[in-house]
Amino acid sequence: MDSSTQTVTAGLLRWYDANARALPWRSAPGMPPPEPYRVWLSEVMLQQTTVAAVGPYFRTFTERWPTVEALAAADEGDVMAAWAGLGYYARARNLIACARAVAARGGVFPDTEESLRELPGLGAYTAAAVAAIAFNRRAAVVDANVERVIARLFAIATPLPAAKAEIRARVDALTPTDRPGDFAQGMMDLGATICTARSPRCLLCPLAESCAGRRAGAERFPVKTAKKAKPLRRGQAFWIVRGDAVWLVRREGKGMLGGMRALPDDGWSARTDGHGTMPIAGLWQPAGSVRHGFTHFDLELQLMLYSGSDLARLDADTGEWWPLARLDEAGLPTLFAKAARLALAGQEQDPGV
Ligand code: ADE
Repeated sequence: MDSSTQTVTAGLLRWYDANARALPWRSAPGMPPPEPYRVWLSEVMLQQTTVAAVGPYFRTFTERWPTVEALAAADEGDVMAAWAGLGYYARARNLIACARAVAARGGVFPDTEESLRELPGLGAYTAAAVAAIAFNRRAAVVDANVERVIARLFAIATPLPAAKAEIRARVDALTPTDRPGDFAQGMMDLGATICTARSPRCLLCPLAESCAGRRAGAERFPVKTAKKAKPLRRGQAFWIVRGDAVWLVRREGKGMLGGMRALPDDGWSARTDGHGTMPIAGLWQPAGSVRHGFTHFDLELQLMLYSGSDLARLDADTGEWWPLARLDEAGLPTLFAKAARLALAGQEQDPGV
């Protein structure tokens, strides 16, 4: 390490020692690492999701499934339902597959970045994070926070995503052999609390003296290529009530929200609007719509209420009558939870129901 690299690395670790956020999946700075299961679970949850949102889910999961073997033995539907609201549901499907792969190895996680990479669902980021944080392996851990810190520190003019390779190389050069996990988490905390996307707090930054971006105006970095506008897709969801239960389906396979419980819908996707076909014949009434933002598109989902009597046509292989009183336990993803709230609010207002 040259002296300026060492100044940055040592400065960051010193700052982390004094300012590390106490988070439920962490050890205090300088202490032995937490259990790999907890590190892995938290890192999968934290991809694309904020620390504040993850906290309650992490507690629920670790209380209900305290070990990787317990999670491997869990019912898939229960895990998917417990994940509901966290989004990016492919992560939950991979979580189960990975837990089962680790359980098949005797419940022991592999302890190098390369071997972690071979587990289901572990991409470059998660493998590096688990290797560094759980096993003290030197690994370059680069998430969006770290990208921002590095783009500023080195005033990287190449826009993202083209700058990713350069950023990774910079992180690799800064990462120490000693305490790589604390270094990675220190970079994340710096990005989350000081070197924030808007209004970075440069006066409080431990790396300010070394920061090339600060002199040019830190907010200018990272440079980004203009994003494409998100398309707006339209679809319908169907609310079918019998007595005090509503008809819910299990979404198929690996597609959008695959494996999750849901209201029946008309097959909208990232690429197309829904086809508008009702699941059963009879009287249908529009009851307002909800909006939801996915990564690559926004969806306007119109809610349709059923008041016909063709219920026998609903296929018990594809769905189930779910008690309305326990709807919050169904594990509906946020989009359908919004639609259900709309339906229930309408029922309350309608004295005829
Ligand atoms: N984001 C992703 N991993 C994290 C961690 N270990 N601590 C804080 N924020 C994170």
